[in-house]
Amino acid sequence: MTIAITAVSGQLGRAIARNLIKTADGETIIGLARTPANAKDFGIEIRAGDYGQPDQLRASLVGVDTLLLVSGMDAPDARIGQHRNVIDAAKSAGVRKIVYTSIQGMEEGTAFSPVVQSNRQTEADIRASGLDYAIGRNGIYIEPDVEYIESYKAKGEIANSAGAGKCGYTTRDELAHAYAHLLTNDDHNGKTVTLYGTPITQAELVSYLNDAFGTSLTYHEMTSAEFIADRTAELGAFIGPIIGGIYEGIRLGIYEEPSDFEAVTGRPHQSWKDYFASLER
Ligand SMILES: NC(=O)c1ccc[n+]([C@@H]2O[C@H](COP(=O)([O-])OP(=O)(O)OC[C@H]3O[C@@H](n4cnc5c(N)ncnc54)[C@H](OP(=O)(O)O)[C@@H]3O)[C@@H](O)[C@H]2O)c1
Repeated sequence: MTIAITAVSGQLGRAIARNLIKTADGETIIGLARTPANAKDFGIEIRAGDYGQPDQLRASLVGVDTLLLVSGMDAPDARIGQHRNVIDAAKSAGVRKIVYTSIQGMEEGTAFSPVVQSNRQTEADIRASGLDYAIGRNGIYIEPDVEYIESYKAKGEIANSAGAGKCGYTTRDELAHAYAHLLTNDDHNGKTVTLYGTPITQAELVSYLNDAFGTSLTYHEMTSAEFIADRTAELGAFIGPIIGGIYEGIRLGIYEEPSDFEAVTGRPHQSWKDYFASLER
């Protein structure tokens, strides 16, 4: 069986490819990349895979049995069309099954909802494609909070609008473990599963970061409007409201819903105690 992974030059695509290379049991793993030069030295065949280029996608998917489609990064409307290019190319190239990395989130009522809706549209397009499929709705990556540690230290706090809401975070490595399962067996075909670990509050996140980095950070709750303004000033008018909308969703409880991670993989998601212990210096 040949498995292809799109956006293999990105952090999630690469983590999934690495996991599959390690665990492969006769499967051939290939990567698709918009910028193949960003995926050099992976030790697997890399083919061109720009979501905006239907002919290129069709040619690159020849001989592929199972395809992992990593959700794109463009504006929501553009994303839907790009994902359709991949789905259509997969159908015409004879791909049997698509696994899609979707997102957990509020479908209405937050500044992140347009992105969630674009993911839901791609989910619907995949279900209507006639191909076998499995869809994962990913939790929020925890790594950016770790990468932000110097910025948090400078401010002495984590400030956002999540309040007491709990967030089902995950890591790209844990997602890679789950997607390897969805790609290599058919138990979850036709299903849409949520993928994240035990939900935690921002106060708990602060406590884990303090233990791991020896800091004395505190949590500061902002209103949604304040936080969106803050993120927009730092990250710009596209990403700022998206980040603000994610925290609005945390406050409203969407990331507290049950996770299917253990049902998919046969083991619990890595605990946050173990994850943060692995970071301690
Ligand atoms: N769950 C979360 O918390 C969370 C957070 C952020 C994003 N996401 C979603 O998760 C996805 C993967 O995350 P990541 O950490 O791997 O992101 P990343 O490291 O920034 O990688 C993004 C990847 O998307 C590729 N890409 C962008 N536009 C493309 C296009 N038009 N055609 C083909 N490839 C394209 C990039 O290719 P190049 O090498 O050519 O740039 C890169 O490989 C993101 O795309 C986003 O949809 C989830």
